[in-house]
Amino acid sequence: MEMAGRLPASWLDELYARTDIVSVVSSYLPLKKDGRRYWGLCPFHNEKTPSFSVNQELNLYYCFGCKAGGNVVQFVMEMERVSYLEAVKILADKIHLPMPELREGPDYERRRSQRERLLNANRDAAHFYHETLWKPEGKVALDYLHGRGLDDGIIRRFGLGASPEHWDALTNHLQEKGYTREELSLAGLIVVKNDSAFDMFRNRAMFPIIDQQGNVLGFGGRALTDVKPKYLNTADTPVFNKRKGVYAINLIRKIRDLKRILLVEGYMDVVAVSQAGVVGAVATLGTSLTEEQARLLKRYAPEVWIAYDGDEAGQHAIERALGIFEKEGVPVRVLKFPDGLDPDEFIRQRGLDAFNRLPPLTAVSYRMQRLAMQYDLDTQDGRTEYAKGCAALLRTVREPVELENYLELLSVQTGFSRDVLVAQVGITPPAAERYKPTENRENLIAKRQRSSESLRTEQTLLALLATGKLPDGMVKAEDFSDAQTRKVAELLLQGVQPSRILAEAEDDALRQTAGEIFSMLSDSERENPAAVAEDCLKRLHIQSLQHNIQSMTELMRSAPDEETRKKALAEVTTLSKELAQLKQLGR
Ligand code: UTP
Ligand code: MN
Repeated sequence: MEMAGRLPASWLDELYARTDIVSVVSSYLPLKKDGRRYWGLCPFHNEKTPSFSVNQELNLYYCFGCKAGGNVVQFVMEMERVSYLEAVKILADKIHLPMPELREGPDYERRRSQRERLLNANRDAAHFYHETLWKPEGKVALDYLHGRGLDDGIIRRFGLGASPEHWDALTNHLQEKGYTREELSLAGLIVVKNDSAFDMFRNRAMFPIIDQQGNVLGFGGRALTDVKPKYLNTADTPVFNKRKGVYAINLIRKIRDLKRILLVEGYMDVVAVSQAGVVGAVATLGTSLTEEQARLLKRYAPEVWIAYDGDEAGQHAIERALGIFEKEGVPVRVLKFPDGLDPDEFIRQRGLDAFNRLPPLTAVSYRMQRLAMQYDLDTQDGRTEYAKGCAALLRTVREPVELENYLELLSVQTGFSRDVLVAQVGITPPAAERYKPTENRENLIAKRQRSSESLRTEQTLLALLATGKLPDGMVKAEDFSDAQTRKVAELLLQGVQPSRILAEAEDDALRQTAGEIFSMLSDSERENPAAVAEDCLKRLHIQSLQHNIQSMTELMRSAPDEETRKKALAEVTTLSKELAQLKQLGR
């Protein structure tokens, strides 16, 4: 939140002290008090039961559904869709607090954050490319886009542009506006070599990549001829991380009640299907899907439908993406395109109706279809192997009614009776674990439970720390082993207010984690923070001992040499004694 630097800290302190987040939020939506928290229907996603909570003591809000969170200024920014300064002004007006002099002038310009300058350069570049499209220098690109079926309306909606063929057109334009070569090169807009500068993107159709707040982060540039690479992307810069951003997320956030996000592979697919009338299409930025992107998408719709290319590469990418969405707990479905078509080609050749008729496959159905292609179902052997493969998939199905549907289909496909298939499912280990012969299943489950248990304990401890009511020195950063909770703990220990951590988190994942944690305490936990923290610290200690005992036991069993096995045994004995004592103390 670089803008905050322009306002005197003491003035901001007064604004926060005199602004009650509950009354501000209440002016937009009804809140109900329950215990010490306030609840309402989340204004940022569609829901029928309230999961939007407001914490008056910590001056923050957090939605357990869509994970939106922040302080009172962010709330106004989101509701009114205004900038930081405008939101601050709205709040100041409410309490009749006159705005202070903004710290501008040359000194301010110089100290203005790098991020802000780079974002401005990107925005100016996007305007330059877009305007070029309508000029003679942009004719080739405009013809290209028209040739791909795009009309001027959609071109404007996505802010598409043209980078001129000339080697320093953008460089000159932006230098005239006062940007330095260093800034432009840092933004990835120009390349400086042997003291001369030239444009990064030349003779390409330009796709600006814009984030949720409307910042232009970077570009993808489509070659107009056969040159390589086909798409040139902005390299990672201080404002652009291609593993975190999502193309067209700026348009998604404006859609109310979006039922599903459509995740496609390419920029062109997003634009083409949007023109055809499909809503909610987004793409990753020239790389395969990451966990960060999956978490980001989760905030904008209840489901994600993967609509990758119908070719073999696309099918591989689907398998990977399914794994990531499943890991992040995002409900997901798959659209399969025939004949290796991509969504752009499919919708242009077969039309919107055909597109809308494609069945959204569940992950299991999709995987069963993929398996079916690997075997010859006309032979008994093929059907047998196929049935075994499907049985492994069906192990993961939790809903009995869904399982029944799959079993029925499988029975028809293979000729095996339902009972035989049920028995097969019963003896087949789940697919993910078949490849880990070294770790037995019980161990794996125990490990997973333990790590989620200690994470939960760490989070509770962090929430207690955030109340500011623990004795000094009771909790240290080293008490946290999870990287994110530790980062937040460090900030709290430095005296940063919880609401400021939410407001200033650069990283969406961190903001969500912090928001969730700050809002998780029950009333009884809040009443007696020190005692609960004491208990958490003890549990963490026990859990870490148990964890060490576990790994030493494994070593004891599996180490190749006698020496190591002996040492591990000795270690297990010591740790177990310590553990027994610790547990004794608790009684
Ligand atoms: P595709 O090669 O599938 O292209 O790349 P496409 O979307 O069908 O593009 P058109 O229809 O030929 O114009 C999909 C995505 O992969 C990334 C880009 O993000 C692209 O949108 N990509 C592809 C690159 O980053 N660089 C490349 O050279 C090619
Ligand atoms: Mn294509």
